[in-house]
Amino acid sequence: MDLGISGRRAIVCASSRGLGKACALSLARNGVHVTLNGRDEDVLAATVAEIEKVAPDVEVRAVAGSVSDQQCQQALLDATPNADILVNNNGGPPFRDFRELDRDALIEGVVMNMVTPIEMMTAVIDGMAERQFGRIVNITSISVKKPVLGLDLSSGARAGLTAFLAGVSRSVANNNVTINNILPGFFNTDRLRDSFNASSKALGISVEEAAAARAEQIPARRFGEPEEFGEACAFLCSTQAGYITGQNLLLDGGVFESAF
Ligand SMILES: NC(=O)c1ccc[n+]([C@@H]2O[C@H](COP(=O)([O-])OP(=O)(O)OC[C@H]3O[C@@H](n4cnc5c(N)ncnc54)[C@H](OP(=O)(O)O)[C@@H]3O)[C@@H](O)[C@H]2O)c1
Repeated sequence: MDLGISGRRAIVCASSRGLGKACALSLARNGVHVTLNGRDEDVLAATVAEIEKVAPDVEVRAVAGSVSDQQCQQALLDATPNADILVNNNGGPPFRDFRELDRDALIEGVVMNMVTPIEMMTAVIDGMAERQFGRIVNITSISVKKPVLGLDLSSGARAGLTAFLAGVSRSVANNNVTINNILPGFFNTDRLRDSFNASSKALGISVEEAAAARAEQIPARRFGEPEEFGEACAFLCSTQAGYITGQNLLLDGGVFESAF
């Protein structure tokens, strides 16, 4: 299917690896010029090269730095004038008992997973509305709907983001600007693999056993592949998806059980 977005420009935050990278790859394959971001410059450069190879006709730019940092945000905006698409992503805070979170840690988590995507959205939304095309996709988490003890800060900040954008999304729908969230369950990325290493150490089992135990809890009996995530993101950014806004798309292989 032609997504109708060839030649559009996208900022994809936190996109040198994992789900963000998958979104950038899918957008680039659909002809979108992409600006990538990540803190590790070598990894970022390797991802730029990979996407240029896969999609030689698109422009691939890169801004190294933390997207939580406002200078980095400005550099992303400067590298992508008149952005048509914004994919908000960031690292997530590590698993931590909520009792260990002091005020600085709490604020850092809220800045990471709520304030930063709101700042990026605010910077691009009026231009999108004027140009009568905009697609904003936020990578949040299944933990917004299904509690995960130890990820309480990330869940709370992302739920705050979701509620904040619920109203905003309706305010720009008449300008063909959409805002949607994608909620990953368990996707096969470095972050997920790191969690198996942690479980392996904590439970005294092998990494393979930790991964198998987790997969067993998923109705699909497997982890999601980042490519599956990227394709869903690209569709939400398509011309055809202009009537989908303010939604939370759960990609979890059936983990979250509900009839509606
Ligand atoms: N994978 C899952 O199953 C899953 C499930 C639920 C929620 N999530 C959430 O989805 C998001 C992406 O997860 P993932 O699995 O793709 O993680 P990942 O494999 O660890 O990749 C994270 C990417 O973000 C970049 N990054 C991290 N912090 C950054 C920052 N401050 N500024 C700019 N770039 C940054 C990383 O590059 P550098 O380290 O070089 O900066 C890397 O490119 C996270 O917020 C995670 O909590 C993932």
